[in-house]
Amino acid sequence: MVAYLWLVWYQACTKASPKHWALAVTYELHERAYATFYEIVGDGTGMGQFLPTVVRRVHLTGTHGHQLYDGKMLVGEINDSVLGALEMYGETAVELVNSHNRKRGLGESNCQDWAIIIIRSLEDSLLLPRGTLAKVERCPRFG
Ligand SMILES: *[C@@H]1O[C@H](CO)[C@@H](O)[C@H](O)[C@H]1NC(C)=O
Repeated sequence: MVAYLWLVWYQACTKASPKHWALAVTYELHERAYATFYEIVGDGTGMGQFLPTVVRRVHLTGTHGHQLYDGKMLVGEINDSVLGALEMYGETAVELVNSHNRKRGLGESNCQDWAIIIIRSLEDSLLLPRGTLAKVERCPRFG
């Protein structure tokens, strides 16, 4: 079954703070499509550690928790095996982000780095076309 992979970003509380980035998978292309969101959220201890989270059956462009939807980019069309790889790389990526923050300092690495690691892994495995990572890296990061 063909699915669509999106990068979705949200309004930050100040112009200088990083936007929350999440990856979303839908089976339809329109704005109100139901999506499964893959993302990482702070573990609540304030130590720069994140937990992976999956949120199912929510609208692609809706408010997310208390965060206001800001924009999205269609990353590409994917099939079930690419989705499986995405879930696998997502687990590795959260470990990389957390260990980076343990060694280098709180919040040095965040949800944007997590998404970028996953997209890079998928592109390196030829599961996304060349140039996808470059497009993702140009998406809005602050404010
Ligand atoms: C899924 O998509 C990938 C990347 O385009 C491709 O290499 C693979 O053959 C596809 N798998 C199936 C089962 O269609």
